[in-house]
Amino acid sequence: MTYQNIQVPAGGAKITIKNGKLQVPDNPILPFVEGDGTGRDIWRSAVRVFDAAVEKAYKGRRKIHWMEVYAGEKSFKKFNNWLPDETTDAFREFLVGIKGPLTTPIGGGIRSLNVALRKILDLYVCLRPVRYFPGVPSPVRNPERVNMVIFRENIEDIYAGIEFAHGSEENQKFKQLFKEAFPKEFAKIRFPETSGIGLKPVSAEGTERLIRAAIRYALLYKRRSLNLVHKGNIMKFTEGAFKDWGYALAKREFRDQIVTERETWILGNKENDPGLSVEDNAKVVEPGFKMMSPEQQNSIRKEVDAGLALWPTHGDGKWKSKLLIKDSIADVTLQFVLVRPQDYDVIATMNLNGDYLSDALAAQVGGIGIAPGANINYETGHAIFEATHGTAPKYADLDKVNPGSVILSGELMFRYMGWTEAADLIIKGIGSAIQSRTVTFDFARNMPDAIEVKCSEFGGEIIKWMDKTPPAVKSYAASTPKGKKAVKRAVSSKGKKKPVKTARKNSARKSVKRKSKR
Ligand SMILES: NC(=O)c1ccc[n+]([C@@H]2O[C@H](COP(=O)([O-])OP(=O)(O)OC[C@H]3O[C@@H](n4cnc5c(N)ncnc54)[C@H](O)[C@@H]3O)[C@@H](O)[C@H]2O)c1
Repeated sequence: MTYQNIQVPAGGAKITIKNGKLQVPDNPILPFVEGDGTGRDIWRSAVRVFDAAVEKAYKGRRKIHWMEVYAGEKSFKKFNNWLPDETTDAFREFLVGIKGPLTTPIGGGIRSLNVALRKILDLYVCLRPVRYFPGVPSPVRNPERVNMVIFRENIEDIYAGIEFAHGSEENQKFKQLFKEAFPKEFAKIRFPETSGIGLKPVSAEGTERLIRAAIRYALLYKRRSLNLVHKGNIMKFTEGAFKDWGYALAKREFRDQIVTERETWILGNKENDPGLSVEDNAKVVEPGFKMMSPEQQNSIRKEVDAGLALWPTHGDGKWKSKLLIKDSIADVTLQFVLVRPQDYDVIATMNLNGDYLSDALAAQVGGIGIAPGANINYETGHAIFEATHGTAPKYADLDKVNPGSVILSGELMFRYMGWTEAADLIIKGIGSAIQSRTVTFDFARNMPDAIEVKCSEFGGEIIKWMDKTPPAVKSYAASTPKGKKAVKRAVSSKGKKKPVKTARKNSARKSVKRKSKR
C-alpha cells in the first residue's frame, strides 16, 4: 500500500499473521502515534527505552523500524483531519503499533479517537494488567497483593454509542416505536417525556471471543483463576448472559483444563465424604435446596451428576491444578479487589465494568501514570498498545510527567510480539529505577527521600538499571511520609546536578497541626 503522508521505513519488514500465529521479523516496522499534550515528552522518553531494551536484549540482531502515523491534534494541524484514513490503513497493514494519549476532539464528529480506532479495527480486547512495583507510593496497605490482568470487552455494551439525546427528533421517534412495540416495557420508564435513551447490546459472539482470549491467556501464563465480573442480578439478559455464555464456553472448549467454582464444591464434597449421595451433595452445594421447587431441585441434582462425571479427569484433587473459573457481581468485586485482592487473578468483564475496575485497580498500585493498556484482536492479530492516561494538557512540553504508562504498554507489546527478553529488561529497568527512588514528580511527592527527575531523565534511569542490580527496596504503601522530603534535581551554575528541597510552603504549619493532634 502507498501512503501520502506516512514515510514507510526502507529497512523494515511487516509483521504478519499465519494460521492465527503472529510472524514477527527481526526488523519489524511498528507504526506509532506520539500523542497530544504530554504525549510528545512521553514518546521521546519511551522510544529511547524501547530501542535500548531491544539493543541490550538482542545485540543488534533485532531492531525496530519506527513509522510515525498521525492522529489527534498534530494530525489536525497538519492535515485538517483528526484521524486520517491513512492512519487506520497503516495500523491495519502493519498489525501491531503503539500510541500515546490523544485529545478528544470537541465537535469534530468523532466522540473519541481511541474508541474510533478500536471500533474500526475491531480490537475487541482491552487488556489491562495491574501489578505493583515495590516502592511505588500507594494508598493501600498491601499493594503487593494486587496482581491482576483485566480483559475488558472493548466494542459492545453501553459503549456501542447508541444513544438518543433528550429533546431530539430521534429520541421522540425511538420512544414512539418502542411504545408501540413494547407498551409494558415503555411503561417502566418513570419520566418518559424527558428521558435520554441508551442501548446496551451484548452478544454471544462478542462475549465468547473475549472470554476465550482471557482463558487462553490464563492458561498460557499459568494463572490461578478467571473471574467473570458482571451485574447479572440486575441486567439478566446482558450482564447475566455474559456470565452464562462464559461458563458454557469454558466447559465446551476448555473442559480438561478448567474447573468451575461450583464443580470444585461438588468434587470436594465427594472427596471429603466418598459415601455422599447425589441428594446430600446437592444439599451442601445449595443450602436452600429443601425450599426449592421440584424443577429447581432437579436442576441442582443434574448439576451434581455432571460435576461427578468429571471424576476421571478432575477427581481426587486433580481439579486443584486446573484453571478455576468463577464469577462475581461487579459491585461486590469493587469491594473485594480492595480488601481481598489476592483472591482475584485474571478478570473478564464487560466494557463499562472494565472501565471502572481497571482505573480503580490502577489507583491501588500507584495511579494511572504507570498503568499500561492494549487493544487487541487475537484473530486478525491487530493490536494497538496505548497509554491509559490522557494528555494531561497542563503538563504538556514541561518534560515532567511519568512516561511509565507508555513504557509498560511497550513492554506488553514486546511480550505480544514474542520479544520476551526485551520485555523483561523493561520490567527490570522500571522496577529498579523506582526502587532507587529516582522518579517523576507524581511518585516523588509521596516518596520520602526520592530524587525527582524529569520525564526524559526517568527514561534514562530505566535504561541505566536494565542491567544493574537494584538497591534494597523501602515500602511506603499507605504511610504518611516521615522521612526527608522529596528532592528535585537541579542544575547548578557549574552544570552539576545537586539535590534541592521541594518542601511545600505550608509544610511547617501542617506538621504543627499533626503534632497538636497527638
Ligand atoms: N487514551 C487516551 O488517549 C485518553 C485517555 C483519557 C483521556 N484522554 C483525553 O485527554 C485529555 C485530558 O483528559 P483528563 O484531564 O481527563 O485526564 P488525564 O489523564 O490527561 O489527566 C488527569 C490527571 O492525571 C495526572 N496524569 C495524567 N497522566 C499522567 C502522567 N503520565 N504522569 C503523571 N500524572 C499524570 C495529572 O495529574 C492530570 O492532571 C482529554 O482530551 C481526554 O479526552 C485521552
